[in-house]
Amino acid sequence: MKKIIIFVLVSVSLFVMSGCQSVNNTIPLILYDETDPYILEFKNYILEDAIGNVDIKAYDSQNSQLIQNEIIESLLDDQPQLLIINPVDRLGAYTIIDEAQKRDIPLIFINREPIKKDMNSWDQLYYLGAPAENSAIIQSEMVIELFGNPYNLSDQDKNGDGVIQLVIFKGEQGHQDAEIRTEVIVDELERYGYELEILSIEICDWQRDKAYDGMNKLLLDLEVEIELVISNNDAMALGAIDAMVENELFIDIDENDRIDHDIDTWIPVIGIDGIADATPYLESGYLYGTVINDSQTMSLILIELTQAILNNTDLTTLSFEIEDGKYIWVDYKRYEEED
Ligand code: GAL
Repeated sequence: MKKIIIFVLVSVSLFVMSGCQSVNNTIPLILYDETDPYILEFKNYILEDAIGNVDIKAYDSQNSQLIQNEIIESLLDDQPQLLIINPVDRLGAYTIIDEAQKRDIPLIFINREPIKKDMNSWDQLYYLGAPAENSAIIQSEMVIELFGNPYNLSDQDKNGDGVIQLVIFKGEQGHQDAEIRTEVIVDELERYGYELEILSIEICDWQRDKAYDGMNKLLLDLEVEIELVISNNDAMALGAIDAMVENELFIDIDENDRIDHDIDTWIPVIGIDGIADATPYLESGYLYGTVINDSQTMSLILIELTQAILNNTDLTTLSFEIEDGKYIWVDYKRYEEED
């Protein structure tokens, strides 16, 4: 009898001990919206790079802060060691930060940057993204290559009035990338000396369908010829191109299935991201150029940072720099055909 009691006691205490020691090793990756092609590609890189390194499970907030809050609330109860968050509303990140801080769970934000004040509210917060100014500067270099001397424009100035008539496709209002990319492209071109006539700034929330509709509607209203389309991302650039093709602003005159910039009818469209959907448009000359928003590198950094936080590694020994102990910036680069 005594033996049985001892056995039961030992088993119970082992069970309790293992219960205490049980650690939740799954790291949640909570995305703002998996229908966004850039985010979906980013997610796929992360899940691929995680294999054999860290157990990451992705959740889709379906572009709803409400859904995202519910996901986070239920995950926090499982005491994860860390959360990776792509916030729906970057301006509302403080609520998430507050809850995580109470439970001492570090957060890595990706792609949608919380405001400085929130980021500075705790020392266990990180942001991984790309410096938006940089993307617009690379776009401006492509415009310079197309239009040349601002005081003696190239043939891209179709009506020869010395002014560039352009349309801008803007992402979500309030998103750091949409705001900065839009502001900087205009500033850069004006600083270089170009005179711009902005025919319209179409706010299309990063979405291809909205840009397609936006361009179609614009073409009904516009009386002036568009000479340049600048888009805050590729998805909207492709939507705009599809609409322009239907409206015969792109014509493959020699019918060789590509737009030859010296022969065919076309309008320069410049995007950002370098998503897979853009590749055939770039290769066939419909999309003049794009800027790579390097989610492949970001993904590798994210896995390294996640492992470092989990293992309490000194963050100054990692392969990338962490600015102010919080920010990791991955530079944009121009898309070149061989990329
Ligand atoms: C941007 C990207 C957009 C969109 C957005 C979502 O960095 O260029 O295409 O995915 O993030 O937050």
